[in-house]
Amino acid sequence: MQDKTHLVDEITGHRRMRRNRKADWTRRLVQENRLTVDDLIWPIFLIPGSGIAEPIPAMPGVFRLTVDKAVEAAKEAADLGIPALATFPNIEMELRDETGSNSLEKNNLINLATAAIKKAVPNIGVITDVALDPFTSHGHDGILRGDEIVNDETVEQVARAAVYQADAGADIIAPSEMMDGRIGVIRHALDAAGHQSVGIMSYATKFSSAFYGPYREAISTGGLLKGDKKTYYIDPANGTEAVRDAALDVEEGADMLMVKPGLPYLDICWRLKEAFGLPTFAYQVSGEYSMIKAAAANGWIDGERVMLETLLAFKRAGCDGILTYFAPEVARLLAKR
Ligand code: PBG
Repeated sequence: MQDKTHLVDEITGHRRMRRNRKADWTRRLVQENRLTVDDLIWPIFLIPGSGIAEPIPAMPGVFRLTVDKAVEAAKEAADLGIPALATFPNIEMELRDETGSNSLEKNNLINLATAAIKKAVPNIGVITDVALDPFTSHGHDGILRGDEIVNDETVEQVARAAVYQADAGADIIAPSEMMDGRIGVIRHALDAAGHQSVGIMSYATKFSSAFYGPYREAISTGGLLKGDKKTYYIDPANGTEAVRDAALDVEEGADMLMVKPGLPYLDICWRLKEAFGLPTFAYQVSGEYSMIKAAAANGWIDGERVMLETLLAFKRAGCDGILTYFAPEVARLLAKR
């Protein structure tokens, strides 16, 4: 016994990693990263009407909310200390068309929600997406001409939609449609309209991912989508290309960067933070959320612990915050500690 101990000491040179792990107090003392409520952005789904919170089957615990319910959610979020919401509309099918023209309606669902939320809860941040997919009859993020998602025409429309969103009170515009040149054009359009203080959080590296499935159910684009989004989203195989794409967004004036999906792309989070030093966010997307919820519901994992572990992993990977459907649940948990 004695001999064996000596052997380990010889090998480790008396360096023992376990000393700092021996008690709860040492572990707390050496903890490098911490998750707080300040790290959370809560994505919510909107539907027309009033007084309705409609469950989304593929996302247990997540609801589509009418504007009045979204205002209640915003109040709840503010009370919990969640800094910001990100809103996604599920509009009527009759309003969806080839070009996503409803995105240019001043009083469309997303803008009505922004105005109502900012009026009732001025201190919560509202982040709006300007991609066209909630508004198009084909589910693509841009304008479809023949077989092609046309870049420049989409950028022009998205920039106009961004101005309407800012007019409605959006604090940060988050373009997710991955068209080339969009950040520069949106910045220019916002400034020309007097919205110098409205920021841009670029979905800088959005990958062509299968993890978006439940979201497409949430905004009813799943059944509409013709083909796939490979001609504009990044190939999951490509990390260096993702850094290059983000570099362009930084040059064009992005204030913050986002990586999407989250957990399978932690290397990208780290690379972007190292390369640019901008506030960097991960979007823990619908599929990531639903996988955890489904496994937890089956008793296969401890859902609460897995949720916290994944969110902490984003912090360790260099993220300043996380867009997550878990936001209110995590915020309540953190408040109890
Ligand atoms: C598209 C968009 C997507 C998500 C948000 N906006 C992806 C898509 O449908 O292709 C996904 C969010 C999630 O999965 O939680 N502009």
